[in-house]
Amino acid sequence: MSETSPKLRAQLEGIPTYKPGKPAAVGGPVAYKLSSNENPYPPLPGVLESVTAAAGSFNRYPDMMCTALMNELADRFGVPVSHLSTGTGSVGVAQQLLQATSGPGDEVIYAWRSFEAYPIITQISGATSVQVPLTPGEVHDLDAMADAITDRTRLIFVCNPNNPTGTVVRRAELERFLDRVPGDVLVVLDEAYREFIRAAEGEGGAVPDGVELYRERPNVCVLRTFSKAYGLAGLRVGFAIAHEPVAAALRKTAVPFGVSQLAQEAAIASLRAEDELLGRVGALVCERTRVAEGLRGQGWTVPETQANFVWLRLGDRTVEFAAACEQAGAVVRPFPGEGVRVTIGEPEANDIFLKAADSFRKDL
Ligand SMILES: Cc1ncc(COP(=O)(O)O)c(C=O)c1O
Repeated sequence: MSETSPKLRAQLEGIPTYKPGKPAAVGGPVAYKLSSNENPYPPLPGVLESVTAAAGSFNRYPDMMCTALMNELADRFGVPVSHLSTGTGSVGVAQQLLQATSGPGDEVIYAWRSFEAYPIITQISGATSVQVPLTPGEVHDLDAMADAITDRTRLIFVCNPNNPTGTVVRRAELERFLDRVPGDVLVVLDEAYREFIRAAEGEGGAVPDGVELYRERPNVCVLRTFSKAYGLAGLRVGFAIAHEPVAAALRKTAVPFGVSQLAQEAAIASLRAEDELLGRVGALVCERTRVAEGLRGQGWTVPETQANFVWLRLGDRTVEFAAACEQAGAVVRPFPGEGVRVTIGEPEANDIFLKAADSFRKDL
């Protein structure tokens, strides 16, 4: 055998591989997976039926243009179909946005810590990550992000609410930031957790709806997903709303037939069952309040979260804390040396987590 191996792009060296949330143990004591920000509710019967019906023809390729889904989304958001693009989850669409905008020599700005896929997909594109630390309150530092813009900047992610801290930016600061971004730099408002936002109007206004901001701003692109509130994480479908030429570039960079027919049918059925699904989101939001207040009552500092998870900055105790939760039956997501993200799950799972957090705190 030859000693040489195929030449790979140098940019791939040192890329941190995406770590999925650890699954719950199978066969052991009751274990709940609170590590991937999934929706704990099983599929609605109607959604399941639509997928089952579509399964009968998976010998065929899906509708590549996702026509029916695009029409539903266009109606739902009041945008032209030409401003929509679907992909294999919103992370797939995010990767397409990088392919479309950024390469070696270019810079991509995002807050840190934020969604762990940003550094990976940026490095794959060949561009350089510019990570701007969150404020001490765990919120995007939009002034610092605007200060970080150079003539090499091509794309900026704003994750609102932010994964893993759950914190949000408000209208006034986001608009001030957008006003500072040159028109030839794409701002991607990643709103994967949009449906979980309940923040009251506060100083700086409400938490803005990216779709409203996009309407007036050709360099703003909004990312949404069916994985979280709509409970379709396993089917992989997300979408972007963007003006031309960004939306056209997304059509060019799409993996052909990337969104399965099952995913398309499930997404349509979910949009039609939105009231019921959003009712479930409401229940998760109540649980979020219970968990966050429970933790605060135990003495923890919990940033105000508007997503389906809570964040505990545990520093050096992170791994130990995650192990204690797992031992108790709740698998959480540690970011070693930084903190733990805990997805809001079913009430029994949240109870197990709260109890584990309480015992850990008492032993500190
Ligand atoms: C902020 C953010 N964006 C995007 C995604 C990707 O979701 P999906 O690819 O399932 O749509 C996630 C998933 O965890 C996320 O947290």
